[in-house]
Amino acid sequence: MPHTEFTVHPVSPTLGAEIRGLDLSQPLRPATASALADALDRHLVLVFRGQALSDADLVRVSGHFGPLDKAPITENGRLHAPGHEEVYVISNVTENGRPIGALGAGESVWHADMTYLETPPYASSLYALEVPAEGGDTGFLSMFAAYDALPEALKRRVERLSIKHDSTTNSGGYLRQGFAPPTDVATSPGTVHPLVIAHPVTGARALLLGRRPHAHISGLSVAESEALLDEIWAAAVRPELAWHHRWRVGDLVMWDNRWTMHRRDPFPDDQRRRMHRTQIAVPGRASENAAA
Ligand code: SIN
Repeated sequence: MPHTEFTVHPVSPTLGAEIRGLDLSQPLRPATASALADALDRHLVLVFRGQALSDADLVRVSGHFGPLDKAPITENGRLHAPGHEEVYVISNVTENGRPIGALGAGESVWHADMTYLETPPYASSLYALEVPAEGGDTGFLSMFAAYDALPEALKRRVERLSIKHDSTTNSGGYLRQGFAPPTDVATSPGTVHPLVIAHPVTGARALLLGRRPHAHISGLSVAESEALLDEIWAAAVRPELAWHHRWRVGDLVMWDNRWTMHRRDPFPDDQRRRMHRTQIAVPGRASENAAA
């Protein structure tokens, strides 16, 4: 049944919906939070325009969806918003000669967040505080659509394969602090996951690719793994399947990190971009997290 407090407007044929009618700076009723979690399950990406959120609001709103992770380690260390270890800062801005956030102004390649963990985060939310006049759009791809796009023979070939998700570099290509540059993808650090996963309720199949750089398919030589990965990425990660969000200040975008990948366009480094992100570790019952 449609929820009466907000309306849902799909933004692309494969994923994404804009949610209208909610002011997230105000407390969310448990039933509303629960309906939003259902909408996230269904649409994989939710966009809320025109919000005015403090970091505490961002933590509270995200906390309705489940417990939050701490900000990840980046090329500049573990950068978080003052007073909020869960709020990861993504920015090209420097203050007193030091970066305040991660990922600079370059492209962030297609990836899902922190798939180098045994249990990657369920969802992420990204809130825009400052945006450049050009560039910096964030793209999303449904990994169900990516799987469906594979030719049948390739689907059969990848069905039982596993893939190592690199833990040394982030999506901007930067080495995470404390890691050595990977020299051999067969032995470099990371976590192995099945390449094809199935939705626990619907059974729909999805690809779990993580990110292309430094990935390795278990049991294959590096040359065989590289060739097969290139084939899978070319067949599955297609621009026509993706949807890109053009940011405005005050936008909050949430995505289901298990069934999507995302990327970011580069933007001019003399323009400021400042985003605050939270990561939801596992789905929580929205009503139980209502006060979080
Ligand atoms: C990310 O890769 O999580 C950052 C996306 C963005 O900066 O738009």
